[in-house]
Amino acid sequence: MFSKIVVVGSCMIDFTCFSSRLPKPGETIIGKNFEIKYGGKGANQCVAAAKLGASAAIVASLGSDTYAQEYLKIFKKENIDVSHVQLQENQHSGIAQITVADNGENSIVVVVGSNASLSPEHVDLAADVIRNAAILLCQFETPLETTLHAVKLHKGYGLSIVNGAPAAKNVDSALLELCDIFCVNETEAEVMTGVKPLDLSSMQQAIEQLLDKGCNTVILTVGEKGAAYASKKDKTIKMISTTPVKPVDTTGAGDAFLGALAYFKAYHPGLSMDECIRRACVVATESVLKFGTHASFPTRSNLSSDLFA
Ligand code: RIB
Ligand code: NA
Repeated sequence: MFSKIVVVGSCMIDFTCFSSRLPKPGETIIGKNFEIKYGGKGANQCVAAAKLGASAAIVASLGSDTYAQEYLKIFKKENIDVSHVQLQENQHSGIAQITVADNGENSIVVVVGSNASLSPEHVDLAADVIRNAAILLCQFETPLETTLHAVKLHKGYGLSIVNGAPAAKNVDSALLELCDIFCVNETEAEVMTGVKPLDLSSMQQAIEQLLDKGCNTVILTVGEKGAAYASKKDKTIKMISTTPVKPVDTTGAGDAFLGALAYFKAYHPGLSMDECIRRACVVATESVLKFGTHASFPTRSNLSSDLFA
């Protein structure tokens, strides 16, 4: 049985410190709490989709540590197909050093480790899984050539969504042209375009630049303000707003959004883009009300049934 959604992407082990605020450069501050959890943008997005009820597979590269074994168990618990997760000998799994402040803000340093070994050949071994998935979802924590290879392989078989996170400056235009939806947040959009998307007109400018770089549809997520999008056909941005909440931890909110977007595109193909984005924003908003990444992603039963109609 093939999955409806396939993620070709990263897995990280998240070492998270909770402190009242983020430290300044050169500063030492005393934190409140420490946790080791399982993250990585690829894995998070896959788990977010699975928690909504999607059948999902992950093509990924873990290390030869006990964290890797734990991660496999976590995926299996979420019914995620791990038949194309490779364990790399003599490499450590990818790690993320995260600080979360009281206001919910975070900062993250990622060391990709074994994620760097996710190769085009590895993707070829998963060709069947990729071609049979309605949605392919990729990010920027694994090698770009591998992502490009996966998107090429999936072309003509369904919808591909690329999340340009973390921020990268010179993204291969072939990737932007090939993927159906390119999704970034404010920081990532700024790095790619030099435009800080603060208001409607700067959002329009940033999105238009990304469309000019070759993107077909661009979604720009703007935190508590929601998301804006536009496409080659209609370059005027549409704004989708969210209900304001008081966040406790925004780590993985973008991943909740992308996993949910993939879910709604896969399981409700008749929905308009506006509506898919609006529903994905509801899922992401839910996630910032709880600590952590996976633990904060809502399941179907945590959400109003209207979302699944
Ligand atoms: O998007 C959140 C994720 O970014 C974290 O889980 C961390 O692993 C980094 O990849
Ligand atoms: Na959260």
